[in-house]
Amino acid sequence: MAVHKTQVGIVGAGPAGLLLGQLLHLNGIDSVILENRTRDYVIDRVRAGVLEQGTVDLLRAMGVGAGLDSRGLRHDGLYISVQQRRHRIDLADLTDGRAITVYGQNEVVKDLIDARVATGRPLNFEAGGVSIDGLDARPVIRFQHAGAEHEVRCDIIAGCDGFHGICRPSIPADALTVYERSYPFGWLGILAEVGPSSDELVYAHHERGFALFSMRSPTVTRLYLQVPPDESIDNWPDDAIWDEMVTRMMSLDGWKPNIGRIIQKGVTPMRSFVAAPMRHGRLFLAGDAAHIVPPTGAKGLNLAASDVLVLAHAVKAFYQRGQSDALDQYSDVCLRRVWRAQRFSWWMTSTLHRFPDDGPFDLQRQIADLEYLTSSRAAMTSLAEQYVGLPPEVSFESAGLSGG
Ligand code: APR
Ligand code: PHB
Repeated sequence: MAVHKTQVGIVGAGPAGLLLGQLLHLNGIDSVILENRTRDYVIDRVRAGVLEQGTVDLLRAMGVGAGLDSRGLRHDGLYISVQQRRHRIDLADLTDGRAITVYGQNEVVKDLIDARVATGRPLNFEAGGVSIDGLDARPVIRFQHAGAEHEVRCDIIAGCDGFHGICRPSIPADALTVYERSYPFGWLGILAEVGPSSDELVYAHHERGFALFSMRSPTVTRLYLQVPPDESIDNWPDDAIWDEMVTRMMSLDGWKPNIGRIIQKGVTPMRSFVAAPMRHGRLFLAGDAAHIVPPTGAKGLNLAASDVLVLAHAVKAFYQRGQSDALDQYSDVCLRRVWRAQRFSWWMTSTLHRFPDDGPFDLQRQIADLEYLTSSRAAMTSLAEQYVGLPPEVSFESAGLSGG
C-alpha cells in the first residue's frame, strides 16, 4: 500500500474538483485530485455551456480565462418565444452591464486540467474503487491505480464527485436530509454542425412542448427538445428531430434554427435535488454531489463554481488563521444560494414546459405568465438578475484572489 499525505483530498475532476484544486493552489494549499474516469472521457463529455457573469469573473481572476476570452461567446440578451413570437430580454441593460458567456463545460474542464498539470500537483485519472473513511477526525481516501493500492491521508475531503459519486452515500443516511423532485419529462439534446441562426439563446414555449436553441461556437449549434422522461433516442431519427425542433421554434417573423448534420444526440432526465447539510465532519460536498437543478435555468455549473469559492475561502481561513468558523458556515452559506437557484430553475422549468396532466387552463395560464414576463420591465429584471447570477457569496479577495 502506497501512503500519500496532502492537505485537501479532492474526489472528482469535474468543474467543482478542478476549480477547487486551482483555488487552493493559488493559496499555497496542497491537494490531491482523484478521478475514476479517463482524462479523455472527462474532457469529451458534452454538458452545459452557459457561464454566469460571476463564473466568468472567477475564471479570469484565477488566471484561467484565456480560452474563455478567445473562444467564449458573450451574450447580452436572450429570447423567450411565446405563441411563435420571439421577445428579447436585454440582460445587460437590465443588470447594469452583466451578461452570460456561452463556453462549453468541456472547454472549461480542459482549461482547468491544463492549469492543474502546470502546477505539478497530483491529478490522478482512472482511480479505481475510490472510498473515503475517517470523516470524524482523520480522513483517508483509498483507491487503486495501475494495479496498486493507495491511501491519501488528509485534513479535509472535498466530495466533488457528482450526483452518482461515492462521497454523499458515505454520509450516514440519518445525518442527511434529501429534498427531491423529478419532472415528467427529459431533454433530448443534440449538437449539430451548423452555424447558429441566432446570436442569442431562444427559450421556446410551445403547445407541443419546450424547445431550446443554444450554441457552442460560430459553427456548432446546440439544441434541446422536451420529451417523455424515459424516451429512447432510437425513437428519434435525425429528420424527426429537425421537424420537431423547427415546429416548436419557428416564429412568425420567419426565424428558425439552421439545419445541419447531427454529430451527437442523447436524452437526459430532469430533477431537482438537494442534500443537506453539505458537510459531514471533515467531508465537504460541492457541486452536483450535493445538488442537481433542472438545466432550464443554466445554473448547474455556476452553482458548483459558487460552492468551491465558498469552500476555498473557508479552507484558507482554516490554514492561514487556524479558524474553523468559515468551515462551520460553509453548508449554510452554500445552501442559501442553492435554494435560490433551485427556485429559479423550477420556475423556468415549470413556466416553459408542458406537463402531461395540464389542460387548456394551464396552457392559457402559461401563455399569460410568459406574455407578462416579456412585457413587464420588472418581471424581465427579475429574470435577468437571476439568469446572469446573483452576487458572489464571498468576495474573491477573501478566497485569496485579487479583484472581484
Ligand atoms: N471516484 C472518483 N471520481 C468520481 C467518482 C468516484 N467514485 N464518481 C464520480 N466521479 C467523477 C466523475 O467522473 C466526474 O468527473 O466526479 C466528477 C464529477 O463531475 P461533475 O458530474 O461534472 O460534477 P461537478 O464537478 O459538481 O460539476 C457540476 O457538472 O453535471 C454537470 O451540469 C452539471 O454543470 C454542472 C456541473
Ligand atoms: C446549453 O447550451 O447547453 C444550455 C443553454 C441553456 C440552458 C441549458 C443548456 O438553460
